[in-house]
Amino acid sequence: MLLPCTLVALGATLAAAVTPLELRGNAFVNPDTGNKFQIVGIDYQINGSAGYNPEHGYDPLSIPEVCLRDAALMQAMGVNALRVYNLNPDLNHDACASIFNAAGMYMLLDVNSPLVGESLTAFEPWTSYYASYLNRTFAIVEAFKNYPNTLLFFSANEVIDHPRTVEHVPPYLRALTRDIKSYVAKHSDRRIPVGYSAADVRSVLFDTWNYLQCAIDGDEDDMSRIDLFGLNSYSWCGDSDFERSSFVDLVDGLRNTSVPVFFSEYGCNQELPRLFTEVGSIYGPNMTDVFSGGLVYEYSEEPHNYGLVEVFDNKSAHLLQDYRTLADQFAQLDFEELQGASPDSNMPRPPTCSSSLIQTSTFHSNFTLPDMPPGVKELIEDGISPKPSGRIIEISDWDVPFTVYDTNWEPIENLAVNPLDDGEVNRPGNNNAGGSGSDSPSDGSDDDDDDDDDDDENAGLSLRPALAIALGLPAALLFL
Ligand SMILES: *[C@@H]1O[C@H](CO)[C@@H](O)[C@H](O)[C@H]1NC(C)=O
Ligand SMILES: *[C@@H]1O[C@H](CO)[C@@H](O)[C@H](O)[C@H]1NC(C)=O
Ligand SMILES: *[C@@H]1O[C@H](CO)[C@@H](O)[C@H](O)[C@H]1NC(C)=O
Ligand SMILES: *[C@@H]1O[C@H](CO)[C@@H](O)[C@H](O)[C@H]1NC(C)=O
Ligand SMILES: *[C@@H]1O[C@H](CO)[C@@H](O)[C@H](O)[C@H]1NC(C)=O
Ligand SMILES: *[C@@H]1O[C@H](CO)[C@@H](O)[C@H](O)[C@H]1NC(C)=O
Repeated sequence: MLLPCTLVALGATLAAAVTPLELRGNAFVNPDTGNKFQIVGIDYQINGSAGYNPEHGYDPLSIPEVCLRDAALMQAMGVNALRVYNLNPDLNHDACASIFNAAGMYMLLDVNSPLVGESLTAFEPWTSYYASYLNRTFAIVEAFKNYPNTLLFFSANEVIDHPRTVEHVPPYLRALTRDIKSYVAKHSDRRIPVGYSAADVRSVLFDTWNYLQCAIDGDEDDMSRIDLFGLNSYSWCGDSDFERSSFVDLVDGLRNTSVPVFFSEYGCNQELPRLFTEVGSIYGPNMTDVFSGGLVYEYSEEPHNYGLVEVFDNKSAHLLQDYRTLADQFAQLDFEELQGASPDSNMPRPPTCSSSLIQTSTFHSNFTLPDMPPGVKELIEDGISPKPSGRIIEISDWDVPFTVYDTNWEPIENLAVNPLDDGEVNRPGNNNAGGSGSDSPSDGSDDDDDDDDDDDENAGLSLRPALAIALGLPAALLFL
């Protein structure tokens, strides 16, 4: 690690990239190491779904300096993945994708937006399933397929949001998965996985998972089978535990999964500030065999109060207590061990689809799927036109050009992304500019720290920026 970082300090450019992960049964596997990848992620949608509008001319991955700021702050937490919900395929995402890539983070991308014609509806889903909608989802695939850090696509999010939606929605979810997977197979160099992100409607959750993961006629390569199952779950609130949170039931119910499962959202906020004690459970021995980690909802503070960071229109930002608490939880994990496990050599095979898999009487249990809408077969055969196209670019300046305030409103000095070495994935300790974690190698100088008076709990945490100034170094180099 020493050499490449020194080169960066001297101004050399590096086209380093994360290694694209591969799907193997119920695990995401890093082909360099052969190990199962655990997602340590954050949901990232500044301004929320309601803030998405193609006419604005921006989306959460189109403003390079904003991505630089947020990549630096996420890198300092040790995060290795982010989920982005609402993207405009016609914008340029090269700088943001390149920044998160260099910071060692994978992107989990929704193909939809909340606008009419840009997602499948829960009510009368057939009215939203037509060629121009699919054209848009294929455009997202085109726009992001070339980035090595594109981990997966969500074909849909929480379309089953109530037990009554299970009557008609399930076959449309499979049909949509089929169409996007077919498009990826034909037009992407790499098999980027496609799956679903489910709401935790517990009464129909396991039926949803089974309906989507099973193999029609026993064919595991059946294009309509999801490649992964994300779960948005808020059942661990406050100072809970593995049993009271009912995480134990999730693990029991999903134990035989033939596809990766993970929390596509977690982080109940019934009690603020949050404790994030579920981190120890999600990445502990009760769960890692079944789950592949998760993503905390969410990066920015929005009206529903799930934020880790307050972001302002002047593009400065302010860290909230939840940012520190979560970073501390991540810092306590043993990443060597967490990311060093081999995938199970004896993985469950997908069950063959059958109405007997489905327990809820009202749940759709017929596996004859809707045909592709007129024109879609041609879109898949020929590709959409015009095709958006992305590529990794060189980033010349890694310094964050805005003021970021610590929890106590002290500005954080020298905030920058630390571009990682080729093939490296982010983890705690790679970037101490934001003062994250307690595992820093430069812990010897607590005495020098005198600017954390109103923030006693974090007394040990804000000394890295101070030390950086003292040494006249970019703080990003301090982990050396
Ligand atoms: C969020 O919305 C504000 C306007 O309220 C805009 O200035 C800003 O660029 C938006 N940020 C992103 C990342 O969408
Ligand atoms: C398909 O998507 C591309 C890329 O966004 C867009 O330019 C084109 O107009 C779309 N075509 C149709 C028929 O919707
Ligand atoms: C998991 O599979 C085993 C063996 O096939 C079976 O006995 C068990 O009932 C399954 N568990 C669940 C929760 O489906
Ligand atoms: C693991 O499960 C056991 C049994 O349910 C429970 O007592 C323990 O607290 C759990 N450990 C973690 C880290 O969640
Ligand atoms: C940016 O805006 C926030 C919120 O209004 C304010 O507190 C902060 O001082 C501003 N920062 C800068 C650098 O302008
Ligand atoms: C499943 O749906 C198809 C198409 O709607 C229909 O033809 C078939 O009879 C249904 N099968 C069962 C077992 O109901």
